[in-house]
Amino acid sequence: MKVSFCCTGTHPEPWLAGLRAALPLAQIELWQPGAAPADHAVVWAPPQQFFDEQPQLKGVFAIGAGVDALLKLRLPAHAIVVRLDDAGMAVQMAEYVCHAVIRHFRELDRYAADMQQREWTVHKPRDRSDFPVGVMGLGVLGQRVAQVLRQFEFSVHGWSRSPKLLEGVRTFSGPAQLDAFLAASRVLVNLLPLTADTHDILNRATLSRLQPGGYVINVARGAHLVDEDLLMLLDSGHLAGATLDVFRTEPLPPAHPFWRQPKITLTPHTSARTLRETSIAQIAGKIGALERGEPVPGAVDRERGY
Ligand code: NAP
Ligand code: GLV
Repeated sequence: MKVSFCCTGTHPEPWLAGLRAALPLAQIELWQPGAAPADHAVVWAPPQQFFDEQPQLKGVFAIGAGVDALLKLRLPAHAIVVRLDDAGMAVQMAEYVCHAVIRHFRELDRYAADMQQREWTVHKPRDRSDFPVGVMGLGVLGQRVAQVLRQFEFSVHGWSRSPKLLEGVRTFSGPAQLDAFLAASRVLVNLLPLTADTHDILNRATLSRLQPGGYVINVARGAHLVDEDLLMLLDSGHLAGATLDVFRTEPLPPAHPFWRQPKITLTPHTSARTLRETSIAQIAGKIGALERGEPVPGAVDRERGY
């Protein structure tokens, strides 16, 4: 069995060594144009040529959770596309989102500014019940985020495509319940996959339905958010702020207005990183399952887009 590795922006050597250790009977190779075809591929942002040269691939294993960019390529018709599920990302995402929610709710930026001025002022505590959190996407990451927010006793509700039952979380599903979900939310966390249905989903109409003083946390994909609509609602005061980890163009261009909007906190697509060792172990297990003809966890429905 041969596995071809093609991950743009990744140092290949430690991945190749880890895959060789995890799959000692397999031939693991760094892809080069014109290389002999492989059975399976481990990829991130591969060029189209990679797939054009390998129509026989059986499995395409992404080293991330989101496969929106991968599904834009012409993929081998019979290959199964598999994403990472959790692989250490869920706890990171829960840390990041809870930090953003708590920083906003507890006015920690305001205190930091006061401290910079050597000003010792204690502000009136805010009521947690005034900050209900809505989590869009109740998959591997969204469910973990919702559970951890519950631990901090926030009122949490969630929205997904299909109905869900989650302890302590009020759930909404499908387009018909989107408005009710948004109206129940003051803080909005986006953990949807980027698909034809979710592109531009954070726009003037949807964000206007959040409760006044709304706060947006986008940790999924930049193309979920209509940038100008967010800026307009921040200017109007309907939204109090946003924490953004993902952008339509990454790195965020120096002239982008997000850099100059003090109500926005930015991070460089770092909320939940791929952890190499955990991911290698997971991918090796999935390749083994596929080779044995067993179901492969994290298999993507290419039609659905996630
Ligand atoms: P997942 O397990 O596939 O969960 C996706 C969730 O979104 C599911 O609950 C799904 O509903 C829901 N959903 C999909 N389409 C929908 C629609 N049209 N309407 C309503 N709900 C919809 O994905 P995940 O592993 O949690 O990851 C989510 C996303 O996070 C990834 O796709 C990626 O873009 C992003 N991500 C970002 C980072 C980062 O560092 N910023 C890191 C990792 C992942 P059902 O449950 O009904 O199917
Ligand atoms: C990162 O954004 C991922 O999808 O894993």
